[in-house]
Amino acid sequence: MGSEPLKVGVLVSGRGSNLQAIIDASEKGDIHARVVVVISDKEEAYALDRARKHGIEALFMDPKAYPSREDHDRAMGDELEKRGVGLICLAGYMRVLSPYFVGRFQGQIINIHPALLPSFPGLHGQLQAMEYGVKISGCTVHFVDKDVDHGPIIIQAAVPVLEDDDEDTLAARILEYEHKIYPRAVQLFAQGRLRIQGRKVIVEGGVTPLWRVTNPSLEE
Ligand code: GAR
Repeated sequence: MGSEPLKVGVLVSGRGSNLQAIIDASEKGDIHARVVVVISDKEEAYALDRARKHGIEALFMDPKAYPSREDHDRAMGDELEKRGVGLICLAGYMRVLSPYFVGRFQGQIINIHPALLPSFPGLHGQLQAMEYGVKISGCTVHFVDKDVDHGPIIIQAAVPVLEDDDEDTLAARILEYEHKIYPRAVQLFAQGRLRIQGRKVIVEGGVTPLWRVTNPSLEE
């Protein structure tokens, strides 16, 4: 008999398309993980509806109901722990986590960011990349440490920036790859294959790298 799937808690603030990608991968059996609870800091987050449609517990936890960020984070941590969560995925969770929360779940929190970190952290990563004039941007899943969009990198996807892109077209192209790399990162974690060594994440068992992404292409 196989082992129990990893219990995942997902923190969200909005649309929840990355949450959906993780739920879909789980339901298809592509990842040995199950989302057991979704927590939002925004009552109107569509991500909460997505969770409920799949029979997943969805909690709105209002930051204003707690005296401090740390109190809110402590309450979230208690809810996650109560449900035996082994991995916390930030999926468009737009609040900065307290050092308390990051310390409590050290090595168990991962985040997705719509740029190739360490470039363009923070808000509007796609727009920042476009305005800088990079030819290739992408997305990153990384472990969370006490600094925003900063911890050890698990997986990245490179996505070309096209000359006629605007923020929305580039964001949509990147999002398609977010939905591929996030479930992959969850699966690597669920398999126990990720080892953090300083700033680096070693993937045990080896991985197949992909080479030669250029934009423009090398051929005319
Ligand atoms: C995603 O593009 C994610 O990478 C980004 O918010 C969006 C959430 O979309 N996160 C950040 O910018 C974090 N710094 P979703 O709610 O549809 O998953």
